Amino acid sequence: MTSETIREQTDSPEETERFGETFAKKLHNGMTVLLFGELGAGKTTLTRGICRAFGIGIVKSPSFVMVNIYSGQGIDIYHIDLYRVPELDAETAGEIGEYIWNDDAIKIVEWAENLPDDILSGEIVSIKIKRISDNEREIIIEEN
Ligand SMILES: Nc1ncnc2c1ncn2[C@@H]1O[C@H](COP(=O)(O)OP(=O)(O)OP(=O)(O)O)[C@@H](O)[C@H]1O
Ligand SMILES: [Mg+2]
Repeated sequence: MTSETIREQTDSPEETERFGETFAKKLHNGMTVLLFGELGAGKTTLTRGICRAFGIGIVKSPSFVMVNIYSGQGIDIYHIDLYRVPELDAETAGEIGEYIWNDDAIKIVEWAENLPDDILSGEIVSIKIKRISDNEREIIIEEN
C-alpha cells in the first residue's frame, strides 16, 4: 500500500459505518488498524462497518474483555480495546502482542495510543476520528 492520507467527513453514525465498510476493501490478513479518538468519537461504529464488509454482524465494544474475536467470510478479526489499560503490564502486553503478531487475522485496536510501540509490526493503518459536532465526525486515515 502506498503512503497516502484520506480525509472524510461523516454526518451520522450510519455514514461512518458505511465508510468503514467501503474502507475495509483495502484490508487483508495480517494488517493492523489503529483507531484514535476520544470517548464516543466513533471507533466502535467504524469497526462495525469494517466487520460488516466481512459478513460479521455483531460487534460489541470489548472494553471489559479487551479482545473480541470475530470469524467472518474467510477472515478472522481481532477487535482489541485498550481503553481501560493505559499502562499495560508485561504479561498483558505479551498477550496483546500474540494477537497483534498474528498474520492470520485483521487486527483493529481502539485506544491505540495505549499500545506500546514495540508491539507493533507488519502493515499498519492509523485512523483518527475527530468529533466536530453531535453528528459530524472527521475521519483521517494514514496508510503506510
Ligand atoms: N458521524 C458519526 N459517526 C460516528 N458516530 C456518531 C456520529 N454522529 C454521532 N455519533 C454517535 O457517537 C457515538 C459513537 O460511539 P462509539 O461507541 O462508536 O465511539 P467509540 O469511539 O468507540 O467510543 P469509546 O471510546 O467509548 O469506545 C454513538 O453514540 C453514535 O451514535
Ligand atoms: Mg468503542
